Amino acid sequence: MPPIELPVANLTIVSCVRRNVGVACGGSASFHETRNLGEAGDMIDFTLNGSSVSLDVPADMPLLWALRETAGLTGTKFGCGIGACGACTVHLDGAAVRSCSTPVGNVAGRTVTTIEGLASGGALHPVQQAWIDHQVPQCGYCQSGMIMAISALLERRPGTTDDQLAASITNICRCGTYERIRGAVASLTVAADAEEETGDV
Ligand code: FES
Ligand code: FES
Repeated sequence: MPPIELPVANLTIVSCVRRNVGVACGGSASFHETRNLGEAGDMIDFTLNGSSVSLDVPADMPLLWALRETAGLTGTKFGCGIGACGACTVHLDGAAVRSCSTPVGNVAGRTVTTIEGLASGGALHPVQQAWIDHQVPQCGYCQSGMIMAISALLERRPGTTDDQLAASITNICRCGTYERIRGAVASLTVAADAEEETGDV
């Protein structure tokens, strides 16, 4: 298999909160890359955002490339490519994983959710809504990964504390939106506590 070339990006980021949380905003964004993605050869079957898909890609291709280049889902971002920054975070069977470091062959028969699949039934995921309410994103590049990491965490720990958040979320935001993220997560935690107290869960 020819080597996978790292992206040479001509990146335009639209300053739009709705796009930054994974919701189409009608603006324009482009991420034009020239890269050799290797030869196809394996059919990888899995569930992607609620639909069965079969991708004709090498099993060792990073899931991130398969999502962006083959499935056309560009909401998941490339940052470091070495599992360090979290920009590429998606859910695999409900757990947050870094798609740049996950061979697509590993997801065969499993369930992958990307930022495009987080909202359901026309309603934003509570984390997406909190991100809008708290105006979390700045440039937005890290935010789809951040939202996917935090939504997976809150699914496991609805009443997550600030310390747990800091210990569990290792995603990097170069714009330094951490305080807004804390505020947005705190609002979700308060809402979850209130629902628990009233039994409205
Ligand atoms: S691009 Fe995957 S962790 Fe940075
Ligand atoms: S909002 Fe810019 S990198 Fe996080």
